[in-house]
Amino acid sequence: MTVSHADDPAGDHGATRRDFLYYATAGAGAVATGAAAWTLINQMNPSADVQALSSIMVDVSGVEPGTQLTVKWLGKPVFFRRRTPEEIEAGRAVEVSELMDPLARNPNLDDTDPATDENRTMDEAGEWLVQIGVCTHLGCVPIVNAGDYALEGGVGGWFCPCHGSHYDTSGRIRRGPAPENLHIPVATFVDETTIQLG
Ligand code: FES
Repeated sequence: MTVSHADDPAGDHGATRRDFLYYATAGAGAVATGAAAWTLINQMNPSADVQALSSIMVDVSGVEPGTQLTVKWLGKPVFFRRRTPEEIEAGRAVEVSELMDPLARNPNLDDTDPATDENRTMDEAGEWLVQIGVCTHLGCVPIVNAGDYALEGGVGGWFCPCHGSHYDTSGRIRRGPAPENLHIPVATFVDETTIQLG
């Protein structure tokens, strides 16, 4: 099924309420949420059998550079970020040795692969970053381009408002209590503008 899209005014300073809007997959209805904790997430998670069968097609044709589409999938928000050249440059400039979590957290690769920017993005150029929008501390939904942490050079990333974790433009934890980078879902491009989750 194809999922409709909405974007945020990324590239702006600060987040707006639209950062919290995401659209459920067809059949589940549109859902909106604030920065509330994703507290029931584990209880809501489908069984492994169901997860294995669950895949959706997401149309990303309307996502402009510097914006983000958020889609609900298997009970969780998934961020489809089309990064700007500045975001890509900031992500690629970071050495793995600088990271709090050195692992890519990308199930499309090996478990032990390092958290280079290249290992977290979908395409060679690094324009597309798809990740599960659930903070790895206690499960809040991070906000894009928010918080007082700007990677040197003023490039955004994601900020978790619950306890102040900061993720860089590659979704890697850089500051705060979260123990792991934002997780990457199983995802593949099926054509130039369609990404399959699962
Ligand atoms: S839930 Fe994100 S920092 Fe605690």
